[in-house]
Amino acid sequence: MIDAGAVERNCRVLKERVGEGAELCAVVKANGYGHGAAVSAAAALRGGASRLAVAAASEAEELRLHFPETPILVMGALTEDELRTALVARADVALWRDGYRQLCSQLAAELGRRARVHLKLDSGMGRLGERDPSRLTELARACAADDRLEIAGVWTHFATADEEDDAFMGAQLADFAPVAEAVREIGPGCTVHAANSAATLRDPAAHFDMVRCGIAIYGLDPFHRDPTEHGLEAALELRSYVADVKRFEAGASAGYGRTWRAEGDTWVGVLPVGYGDGVRRGLSNNADVLVGGRRYPLVGTISMDNITIDLGPETDVEPGAPAVLIGRQGSERILAEEVAASLATINYEVACGISSRVPREVRE
Ligand SMILES: Cc1ncc(COP(=O)(O)O)c(C=O)c1O
Repeated sequence: MIDAGAVERNCRVLKERVGEGAELCAVVKANGYGHGAAVSAAAALRGGASRLAVAAASEAEELRLHFPETPILVMGALTEDELRTALVARADVALWRDGYRQLCSQLAAELGRRARVHLKLDSGMGRLGERDPSRLTELARACAADDRLEIAGVWTHFATADEEDDAFMGAQLADFAPVAEAVREIGPGCTVHAANSAATLRDPAAHFDMVRCGIAIYGLDPFHRDPTEHGLEAALELRSYVADVKRFEAGASAGYGRTWRAEGDTWVGVLPVGYGDGVRRGLSNNADVLVGGRRYPLVGTISMDNITIDLGPETDVEPGAPAVLIGRQGSERILAEEVAASLATINYEVACGISSRVPREVRE
């Protein structure tokens, strides 16, 4: 279940944080962090986002069908074919190498339109981008001299924005700001951007002209704690139901490998959901599930299509009872952050990992 209204409200919260001076770009790559790209993008735009960002050209191509006029930035590295796809979709693209600048220019000429490029500084993330500030400004000058190219932005990405007491983000910011100014002089009117969700919430100095928020628009906490601390609401719920309830005698086991055996007589609920749906096997004997507003331990090894929960020696749970693996039921809730901690991973991976087999039912 995806609560599109929550995405909209989260974007309002973020837009309020950045104020009138900065645009909100909603990052909807990887199928909107598993929430559905088009649904999330539409909700984000209703909530005050004015741009969209994705990683791959194919993602921009798909979004363009739904949003004919919204600026879309493809943030990732692209092959020649992918670059063509992105430009045909009228998406902005990332640029940091001269050979790629020439390719952008050549493809723009072929397509009879200008390519909008965002010059990327690698200020410390150590992935995409030009490390040397003077080479980036040189590249900006080459773009400015080419009327098939438009300098649409200058940007960078933080490595440690989610680590609140870390000094590296400040160092990246200090390195990026003068380069951004230099590029802005060469390409007046270009958009300066750096902040992901954590940086947006952590430091107004990182806002510049636009923030690129992903995780927070979905109501997931960029600091891996509790999204409500920042006024954010989780938009995703992973639901199933109790398909069967069975009596287990002491010593009886559930699932592959018999990793759990009933200590005493008990009732076991069987839920038709498993790692084929994105309920990771690492949660075997290591998670709770909500039924009737109460937490029950997930017991036994997670299969591709089924899990089992221990309902205890006496139960009123009956087949058909709704179950929640991530989300709220009554006054109880299981956050994606809790599931992530059990798996020693991050909420991003939990949300992205929910497979395409799970129908995304949308609540507006
Ligand atoms: C370049 C870039 N900018 C922005 C984001 C959004 O980050 P977050 O989801 O932490 O807000 C991402 C996501 O990983 C990214 O790769």
